[in-house]
Amino acid sequence: MAIESIGFMHWTNSDGVPTVKFVAVDTSAPAGKAARQKAGPGRPAGARKPAVGRSSARSTVVLKIIMAVSGIVLVGFLFAHMAGNLKIFVGQESFDHYAHWLREIGEPALPPVWALWIMRVGLLVSVIAHIVSAAVLTVRARKARPVRYAHRPKVQGSYAARTMRWGGVIVFLFIIWHLLDMTTGTVHPEFDPAKPYANVISAFAPERWYVTAFYVLAILAIGFHLRHGIFSAVRTLGQQSARGERIAKTIALVLSVILVAGFLSVPFAVLTGLVS
Ligand code: HEM
Repeated sequence: MAIESIGFMHWTNSDGVPTVKFVAVDTSAPAGKAARQKAGPGRPAGARKPAVGRSSARSTVVLKIIMAVSGIVLVGFLFAHMAGNLKIFVGQESFDHYAHWLREIGEPALPPVWALWIMRVGLLVSVIAHIVSAAVLTVRARKARPVRYAHRPKVQGSYAARTMRWGGVIVFLFIIWHLLDMTTGTVHPEFDPAKPYANVISAFAPERWYVTAFYVLAILAIGFHLRHGIFSAVRTLGQQSARGERIAKTIALVLSVILVAGFLSVPFAVLTGLVS
């Protein structure tokens, strides 16, 4: 076997998601030789002229890995945050104690609030890395298909795949609102930094129904975003068999449903008077 051509091919798949594949051509096989001659020098059999060069294809792989790893960090944060929020069902003391404990992590090795700031910086870096790599990959995917589909059938791609980008925008806007609401209190009517439990209850007061509606919308968007994101991350990080994809899809669905239900339970409990 003589491997003459090794490289990355990338294209936009039926979901509209940039896809990368590692290819090697065995030029010793008669069929491979003939096909290679047809394809032209330095290009795998059957491959069209690549839209971008090999180094760009390699950096596409790096970008997808950055997206997957930063996404995993963000998913980890979301689960920790959701679990922390559920303390609201234990009671005011437990919830407020948890919020204060967040500021004491790392003491006495670190001064107060340092560990929290380190986590905040890590989170911010992950968000920026995730958004920038998504934007670059999107531009590359468009360039790889300069002539857009005149008519793209609705059945193509899952609902989650088609909503990835606007879902990401909603989540981004939500995070800005949420920080102004629950962390700085800028847009919160009765904010008291020492009373996070009371802040949550008053944030979801019936007269602020539009805020609650925005939370619900953003949490649902996170659910869809996550379902597709977890699936793509598992695929990017190597699980590409048909069975592996099925397992990845199931894991993604289960994790998203748990997360959405956990987050939604808080405004739901406040609205129904279960916690007050
Ligand atoms: C109903 C759902 C949610 C509730 C009740 C909630 C509640 C809170 C509260 C009370 C804080 C302030 C914590 C503190 O300073 O002690 C907070 C902070 C925060 N939340 Fe949420 N949250 C919810 C959903 C989300 C979601 C979906 C995200 C992400 C997309 C998110 C991201 C954040 C971030 C980044 C912070 C700032 C953490 C920090 O730096 O201190 N939250 N949340």
